[in-house]
Amino acid sequence: MNTASSDQFNEYASIYEDMSQWPFRKYIEIPSVFQEIGDVDGLSILDFGCGTGMYARWLKQRGAGQVVGYDLTEGMLNYARRRAEKEDLDISFVSHLGPELIGQFDLVLGVYVLPYATTRPELQAMCADMVRLMRPGGRLLTLPIHPVYDPHPNYYEPYGFRLIAEDPENPYADGERVKLELCKNGEQGGVFAWYWSATSLERALEQAGLRSLKWRELSASAYPDANQAPKELHAYLQRPHSIIIEGVRG
Ligand SMILES: C[S@@+](CC[C@H](N)C(=O)[O-])C[C@H]1O[C@@H](n2cnc3c(N)ncnc32)[C@H](O)[C@@H]1O
Repeated sequence: MNTASSDQFNEYASIYEDMSQWPFRKYIEIPSVFQEIGDVDGLSILDFGCGTGMYARWLKQRGAGQVVGYDLTEGMLNYARRRAEKEDLDISFVSHLGPELIGQFDLVLGVYVLPYATTRPELQAMCADMVRLMRPGGRLLTLPIHPVYDPHPNYYEPYGFRLIAEDPENPYADGERVKLELCKNGEQGGVFAWYWSATSLERALEQAGLRSLKWRELSASAYPDANQAPKELHAYLQRPHSIIIEGVRG
């Protein structure tokens, strides 16, 4: 697979780790993902596109069995390994999907990784990789760009980032390149992502062997004290930039 889109993450480990505390992640995305996952006790879990390994660490701390983080970016993996070692968490972080991993996992989690498939064949290959890691009956949870994210470039600025469609006239065109610019606390930089329609995502996941697909909107109600969620997040919740897709390997 072409690794060009993951190369752009090499310098971003500490920023991505810091982003886990940004309000839209802390109060909305992360609790929504954990609510959807449910009990992880003893489950074997692969975190696909694990980045700095935040989800992998939290899953291990919540009682998961075998946890593996997979990513193509060495900068991210190095951070993930150091951090897990420091926290004495038994997680392996790999840059290659060896045969010993195939069909092993009760759950594959892929947070913000499908948007880095730059072409339809890459999207298909990424979905196939995710699904072949799962045991029959295993679950996938993945968060793509929301098929109807708000295409106004400044809409997400209060939440720390801008999503800028390369062709503003056609933000929902399949395979459209979208710039994700960070703009919180003077943060500079950004990466390119790729927009895939709901139809393309469903088709790629189903062709890969996923069944019973469900779409779950992100919600603030999953946060343990939902009343504490800042009011400024209301506009985010009306047009979240991501969504959860869940399915089962047939
Ligand atoms: C936006 S980051 C998300 C990281 C993490 N999942 C999180 O929630 O913080 C996307 C990650 O996907 C990785 N990535 C991109 N393409 C990939 C691929 N084909 N296979 C595995 N990882 C990939 C990048 O290296 C990067 O670390």
